[in-house]
Amino acid sequence: MHQPLALDQVYIRFADGTIALNGLSLDFPNGSFTAIVGPSGCGKSTTLRALSGLLAPAAGIVTRPTRDQIGFVFQDPTLLAWKSAYDNIALPLKIAGKSRHEIDQRVGNALKLVGLSGRGDALPRELSGGMKMRVSLARALAIEPQILLLDEPFAALDELTRLRLDDDLLQICQQNKCTVVFVTHSISESAYLADRVIVLDGSGRLARIVDVPAPASRENFRETPAYHQAMHEIAAALGHNLAPALGAEKGSTS
Ligand SMILES: Nc1ncnc2c1ncn2[C@@H]1O[C@H](COP(=O)(O)OP(=O)(O)O)[C@@H](O)[C@H]1O
Ligand SMILES: [Mg+2]
Repeated sequence: MHQPLALDQVYIRFADGTIALNGLSLDFPNGSFTAIVGPSGCGKSTTLRALSGLLAPAAGIVTRPTRDQIGFVFQDPTLLAWKSAYDNIALPLKIAGKSRHEIDQRVGNALKLVGLSGRGDALPRELSGGMKMRVSLARALAIEPQILLLDEPFAALDELTRLRLDDDLLQICQQNKCTVVFVTHSISESAYLADRVIVLDGSGRLARIVDVPAPASRENFRETPAYHQAMHEIAAALGHNLAPALGAEKGSTS
């Protein structure tokens, strides 16, 4: 259990007058996996930055645990090129003043969680795009966050790598029981990963919340009517109409 995570009537306005969040209210229950989707520039990243405390709202209230309980993963791995995977993951722990022994343990655990045991010595340039993203994820996990915020973390990766990382992330989050907020522009990725999808409209407001009745094991979930129904609802909230046959067909055969 952690401090609640919530936005209450939050307004974020940038210096140039852009209103990125326009009175947004959202609750993130303990242990939930929420995806945020919406058109480019609708305020997804801003929502994450407000949740993390990186951005202070012009009005409204952000409720969250302390910053050291929150892990953040960006679209780019943002690794230091001259430091090994191990040292990149260790850096926030060093800054937090953890002992050498504890750092060693946590980095080892985090590398194992993301499937990179034995690769701690590798430099970023020696790793594939997917592996770099795994290191970035490990760096966020090593602080043992209660809340994990991810901003389009796998968007730059090839499709197969992304599917692998989606499944690994799900498993890691189920093990660690953290509360996850995952920004993506992919309707299918949001419906697959999240138990709840928040759709933002183009002007920093909530368009719709779609609940996804996702089973703990996602094996074959993509074949189910529930998954296709969720995709339809998300697409509709975004103003798109997915081919109706998609869900109906699957539904009638299972
Ligand atoms: N530092 C900034 N200064 C001014 N405007 C910004 C800044 N960051 C983001 N914006 C604007 O705020 C809006 C929301 O941006 P963002 O949250 O990054 O969107 P998304 O992540 O959904 O693509 C956009 O119109 C964007 O141009
Ligand atoms: Mg963004």
